[in-house]
Amino acid sequence: MTWVDMGGGTAENVDMMSQYIDLSAFDKIYVVDICSALCEVAREKVKKRGWYNVEIVEGDACTFAPEEPATLITFSYSLTSKKNKVARSIHNVVLGSCCMYSMENFSSPATAVY
Ligand SMILES: C[S@@+](CC[C@H](N)C(=O)[O-])C[C@H]1O[C@@H](n2cnc3c(N)ncnc32)[C@H](O)[C@@H]1O
Repeated sequence: MTWVDMGGGTAENVDMMSQYIDLSAFDKIYVVDICSALCEVAREKVKKRGWYNVEIVEGDACTFAPEEPATLITFSYSLTSKKNKVARSIHNVVLGSCCMYSMENFSSPATAVY
């Protein structure tokens, strides 16, 4: 399974996901973000947590496509107006899902809005 978190910033979603799912369930996780400072923070987090299957990609989500088919694509508070364009640009998606977290119930698992 491949997960792509678009506009993933500091990879905080990966950290949160690890509280609910064993990250080794994913063959590969990509965190794509255009901001180099945030990517640097994310890379430090990857090192610190020892996530062997997480790759931080600095770049535009509108042009990113993983080599392997993506199983899950998430957007949390990111690329609001470009979600459909980005999702469409990834032709090899097996199963796509766009998610946002509900801040009203932050202590429980992510609430899928889309
Ligand atoms: C509001 S932040 C959300 C960060 C993270 N997803 C979260 O939920 O905490 C939006 C993120 O989208 C990133 N972003 C904006 N446009 C982007 C683009 N075209 N490609 C990749 N990342 C982008 C920003 O750098 C920023 O990290």
